[in-house]
Amino acid sequence: MAAPCFPEEQAKVQAELDAVIGRHRALTFADQESLPRLQAFISEALRWRPPFPNGSLAHGTTHDVIWINHCIPAGTTLFGNHWSISRDPDVYPEPDVFKPQRWIDDQGHLRNDLKLFVFGFGRRVCPAQQLANSFVFIDSLLVIWAFQLTLDPTMPLDDMGFMSGAKLNDPPCAIEFETRIPELELGRMMQHYPQVAR
Ligand code: HEM
Repeated sequence: MAAPCFPEEQAKVQAELDAVIGRHRALTFADQESLPRLQAFISEALRWRPPFPNGSLAHGTTHDVIWINHCIPAGTTLFGNHWSISRDPDVYPEPDVFKPQRWIDDQGHLRNDLKLFVFGFGRRVCPAQQLANSFVFIDSLLVIWAFQLTLDPTMPLDDMGFMSGAKLNDPPCAIEFETRIPELELGRMMQHYPQVAR
């Protein structure tokens, strides 16, 4: 959703993919380290529209907890409010602006002082975050590499629809996929892709 909504940012990622890998071989996990702009784009997309805005699962206090000057009594049900965290202007200046650059330092490396919160926190943090990060990475990589994503102007996209449980293609998909690589060549490259990716 972020790629067609922010075409200039999509173009920057595609420029990185073309410069680092080109269009004549399919990309794999081995390319991950060389693609900071793609990684920054993914982190910003997850921050911009966190997949679980209300934190997904309820937590509870087992004893009284003092937080700043509040007492949260034992037995209180708590949710990590990912939406509110994603909008903290002290951490993410201009939080409503889609800015992958915020994840990159002056040397062009990924910042390691900015953490992603979308997998939750503490002992109940998502146990599959490495798996999930891997598939989000490889899916984003292959989709943005192989396709130019644009919005269909006749079908407005509700980019907040997911907050109320709407799916991206519900109503019919407003995103168009146009191949950046001739389909025959893409088919040939992907034919043995799983073996290549291992
Ligand atoms: C981008 C994809 C994913 C995101 C953003 C995500 C996010 C989350 C979040 C926010 C929680 C709640 C953490 C908390 O309470 O603080 C959670 C819990 C959990 N997730 Fe994920 N998740 C993802 C993918 C997956 C996948 C692929 C699996 C399984 C293969 C998985 C399995 C679980 C399980 C079992 C829990 C419950 C852990 C517990 O309560 O101790 N998640 N996830």
